[in-house]
Amino acid sequence: MTRISRRDLLCSAAALSASSILARSAWARTAALLAGSADAASAAALAAVAPREQLLFDFGWKFQFGSGNDPAKDLGFGVGQGDFAKTGDFDFAKDKFDDSKWRTLNLPHDWAVELPFIDDKEQNSHGFKPIGRRYPDTSVGWYRREFEVPAGDLGKRIAIEFDGAFRDVIIFVNGCFIGRNNNGYAPFSFDLTDFLAYGARNYIVARVDAAFGDGWFYEGAGIYRHVWLTKTDALHLGKWDSTVRTQVSEGSVALTLETVVENQGTQVENAKVSWQILDAAGKTVATAASLAQSIRADSQAAFLTTANLATPALWSVDEPNLYTAIVTVEAGGKARDAERISFGVRTAIFDADKGFSLNGKTLKIQGTCNHQDHAGVGAAVPDRLQTFRLAVLKEMGCNAVRTSHNMPTPEWVEGCDRMGLMMMCETRQMSSNPEGLAQLEVMVKRYRNSPSIIIWSIGNEEWELQGPMAEQGAKIGATMVQRCHELDPTRVVSAAVNGDNQKGVSDAFDIIGFNYGLDRPDGYHKQHPKRPIFGSETSSAISTRGMYSTDPMRNTVTNFNGVVTWGETAEEWWKFYGTRDWEAGGFAWTGFDYRGEPTPYGWPSINSQFGIVDMCGFPKDTFYYYKAWWGKEPALHLFPHWSFEGREGDMIPVWVYSNADDVELFVNGQSQGSQKVPHLGHVEWKVKYEPGSIEARGSKDGKVVITEKRETTGPTVAIRLTADRHEINADGEDLVILKVEALDKEGRAVPTANNAIAFNVSGEGKLIGVGNGDPNCQESDKEPKRSLFNGLAQVIVQATRRPGEIHIEAVKDGWDGPELTPAKVTVTTRRVEPRSAVPWSRTQG
Ligand code: GAL
Repeated sequence: MTRISRRDLLCSAAALSASSILARSAWARTAALLAGSADAASAAALAAVAPREQLLFDFGWKFQFGSGNDPAKDLGFGVGQGDFAKTGDFDFAKDKFDDSKWRTLNLPHDWAVELPFIDDKEQNSHGFKPIGRRYPDTSVGWYRREFEVPAGDLGKRIAIEFDGAFRDVIIFVNGCFIGRNNNGYAPFSFDLTDFLAYGARNYIVARVDAAFGDGWFYEGAGIYRHVWLTKTDALHLGKWDSTVRTQVSEGSVALTLETVVENQGTQVENAKVSWQILDAAGKTVATAASLAQSIRADSQAAFLTTANLATPALWSVDEPNLYTAIVTVEAGGKARDAERISFGVRTAIFDADKGFSLNGKTLKIQGTCNHQDHAGVGAAVPDRLQTFRLAVLKEMGCNAVRTSHNMPTPEWVEGCDRMGLMMMCETRQMSSNPEGLAQLEVMVKRYRNSPSIIIWSIGNEEWELQGPMAEQGAKIGATMVQRCHELDPTRVVSAAVNGDNQKGVSDAFDIIGFNYGLDRPDGYHKQHPKRPIFGSETSSAISTRGMYSTDPMRNTVTNFNGVVTWGETAEEWWKFYGTRDWEAGGFAWTGFDYRGEPTPYGWPSINSQFGIVDMCGFPKDTFYYYKAWWGKEPALHLFPHWSFEGREGDMIPVWVYSNADDVELFVNGQSQGSQKVPHLGHVEWKVKYEPGSIEARGSKDGKVVITEKRETTGPTVAIRLTADRHEINADGEDLVILKVEALDKEGRAVPTANNAIAFNVSGEGKLIGVGNGDPNCQESDKEPKRSLFNGLAQVIVQATRRPGEIHIEAVKDGWDGPELTPAKVTVTTRRVEPRSAVPWSRTQG
């Protein structure tokens, strides 16, 4: 086993050249997981009643960099003292302002991922991008957009809603300052009603300043999540106030249905709320209505009612059944506002003796922690990529994710609901100050109907609050836990604690989370036998995909159990958590590699190596350890690859991860012996390398049930492109995600290939990002070319809104290296009704 200490962190080394294993694709079942939802039926049911409009505000923005220190380069913003003196004075948010030289782009957008890498050790944990106060010219961005507001909208309430932006945002509309946002992850919105010109053109400007950070990892920069324009009646449902609570008893479920109605009009309204519950097939299975209440102008009223569901279809990780509630508020004889809420029926119980159970059945949490960035796109992850990422995790048997260390984007949560992954949902700032509580409140309100969420987390590793400031920590923790309980009495609250769980913030928790330190939970359990325990963060195993030696000169880490001193290998932590009945399970650090924290190295490494899969989602070998012990199907993974030119005669370790009873290894047809697979372990041999093949055969009850073979490959002669889907939506949002490989003349993927490949994308799609999973690669994420890393690269292509075909071609890039037969893929983009969007004139298409 290779252990690497925190001391090695600043080791720098030469850039890496590629070699080694081709990991197999984990995409196979993605499409199946995504199929089927009540979406269409419930959307139609909502449309039938709803006067509310929710318009996607992502397309056709203009963008330009500003400056963090020079007003002349920052649209003159901040010159003199009068900037905020008078309302309506900001000319850059008015019609005469000329943005014709600004770049046109669509949201979500992360400008940090577009910037070059820089060798600045201060930026080590953030992914070596020029973002921060020392980089004023690349840390402030301006977004500008014109939009029409029809005359008929007069009298409606109109708000702009951001799902999240990084980080400090100032919003101006029609020359008026509207408001500010001061964190990188929580959604925020502003009511624009009074500032709009009706039947006319309007102008919105956002100044986004990414100079301050929220975390110690890559955070992106800009408006990296969706933006919406919502239009409601003056009498409308409160924001995230509608809740569906379920009480399961023998054969039926009692639903408690609550909401708040706000009257922002000028007259008293006599309002009534009705609920329609639809099952996954879109069939109405229950209805309920509350008594009417009169609501004075400028005030609000709470509504509560109940309903029953007979023969409920429970939500679980294997069968993520969802229901939809359509909540409608009526007054004056007509529907005035409506919304739809997705919910599930399930029980989730933590027990100090029995661990965790879902719907009354014990279930170990087989979790991973994940940051939110992906190869090619940084933090601006399109919706389809969110579900792609979840499918990769699900494929290895992961049944839960922790949104470390911040509130997730809605599509990640909805993906978990739909695909059957449980979630520990974490807020960014552990504080009971107004900002900390506001972030927490918005997170709980926004997601409390999601069946996937089983734990609210108030934060991660707050050293001061657990140690020297434990007294204050106990108070801050108690206030935050209480706030969670008030907003959602149905879920447990905890945090990820590394260190002392006997005091400080932990005092208030419903369940106790341990980060690392496998020597601590046993003692704690003895001392506190009534407190449920789980692994809030474990492992921090490290590996470079396709590498089989740790080489500080090349910044690589072996796949044979690489780990940091404070962490545990997959086998170590799972043998611990997986075998104690009272342990609920835990969350490994991390599912995906992420930008920043290039542990155990520094520059030129630019992303982490903690992932069980790399930045693109290509599995490392440990993926298959989890698949064997977390999955339910027979599994066997043999590694390394068998292409070690020049190492003939060397003794090479060969490992197998498998849940078979016994595994027999063959080298060029010769048996190397059979071994019994230890429970939650692996088997290994050391064999002399000779070109040819190795094969592992796994048996159950004496019969061979699963085999895998690795062959020595020849020189690369051709490229292969594999699309995850051949038909996607022509909605300007959907994606095709392509795997790029190099083949030898037998058509076998070459696991050591590092050829440079260029991509030509034509027709109804555009390339939005490339990656190869190499933590040491500083090639651009945005240019249409990429080197393979240990045989693999990824290309992400987005559909336009015009139905047609996308042609993607991969060719050899540059003059060096062998000739390669190009590969071509055609993807059809089908006509769909795109999501309703705010029209954008100048770039419509
Ligand atoms: C933990 C921390 C994570 C990450 C990890 C690396 O202590 O919570 O954010 O930094 O260490 O091992």
